Amino acid sequence: MTQTLSLRRPDDWHVHLRDGETMNAVLRYTTRQFARAIVMPNLKPPVTTAALARAYRERIIAALEPDAQFTPLMTAYLCDKTPADELRRGFEEGVFTAVKLYPAGATTHSEFGVTSTAKVGKALEAMQAIGMPLLIHGESTDPTVDVFDREAVFIETVLQPLLMEFPALKVVMEHITTEEAADFVSADTSGRLAATVTPQHLIFSRNALFTGGIRPHHYCLPVLKRERHRLALRRAATSGDPRFFLGTDSAPHQRVLKESSCGCAGIFNAPGALQSYLMVFDEEGALDRFEAFASVNGARFYGLRLNEGRITLQRHPSEVPEDIFLPGGGAIHPFLGGTFLPWTLVEQGAESS
Ligand code: NCD
Ligand code: ZN
Repeated sequence: MTQTLSLRRPDDWHVHLRDGETMNAVLRYTTRQFARAIVMPNLKPPVTTAALARAYRERIIAALEPDAQFTPLMTAYLCDKTPADELRRGFEEGVFTAVKLYPAGATTHSEFGVTSTAKVGKALEAMQAIGMPLLIHGESTDPTVDVFDREAVFIETVLQPLLMEFPALKVVMEHITTEEAADFVSADTSGRLAATVTPQHLIFSRNALFTGGIRPHHYCLPVLKRERHRLALRRAATSGDPRFFLGTDSAPHQRVLKESSCGCAGIFNAPGALQSYLMVFDEEGALDRFEAFASVNGARFYGLRLNEGRITLQRHPSEVPEDIFLPGGGAIHPFLGGTFLPWTLVEQGAESS
């Protein structure tokens, strides 16, 4: 049985680092594990311009621990009225790595998102021309659609037509949750479609939301789905298919906001992220495919160099903290907080290049 695993430093291709005191409290959990991360732009107000992204990047860098080696990769929050030029300029100046499309109203802080893809045609055309990836929160916002069907309906009604209209646009379906999404990505032959997968969607089905009572810390969007989907996601993520890669969707919210009569969506999984993914790959007998999923596939899709440094994990239980406390009061409860995961991150090698 493998006891020690050494791999290229991984990247997180989808994370919410937040801002201010929350960012200060959560950032280290990402930077201790990952060399780079695609940073989501759904701040209040959202990161809609290159100037805002540059300023946010500077705040992240200023908040890093002194010995951290971490590169935040910034995204633009796409609005109906985002000028194509703003995206092009931001991309060419190395500020934006990608653009995030939230259907308006689909999730936390998405109220300034896109009301119809017809409104962002010019932006998508420009992105297609320069090879700038579009990252999609793929859920239908039609209120008559059942919440568990929103991803599958989005694929049919929005994603398929969009991919046809922009045949060379690079697209990442973020945090896929269904067999339909996994199959859709696997069936694509155009080579410009990929998907991220979160730990929670690999570990839990929707039963976890209701085990012994309502479980707000297992609530995120897209919501957990039935077991058949979880199994399909595990097959896809551990298959070795280069179109599936790591993206935690770590999305911290304070306990009081989640343990509420209207608890908000988002799971803070950064503290045990790598260990929880590794547990899944181990259970699936796919340890040999973990490095591709965590450290290679995403970088290749984005056309970025692979990290030079290495990390080591050992088969030895590590505890996920029960709570992360904020200096101004309040706490954030991590995914699987207070439990032990079977692997421990023991060593981070410096970049050798
Ligand atoms: C995210 C958040 O809290 O910012 N929440 C979530 O449930 N995933 C937003 C998002 O990525 O949908
Ligand atoms: Zn997210």
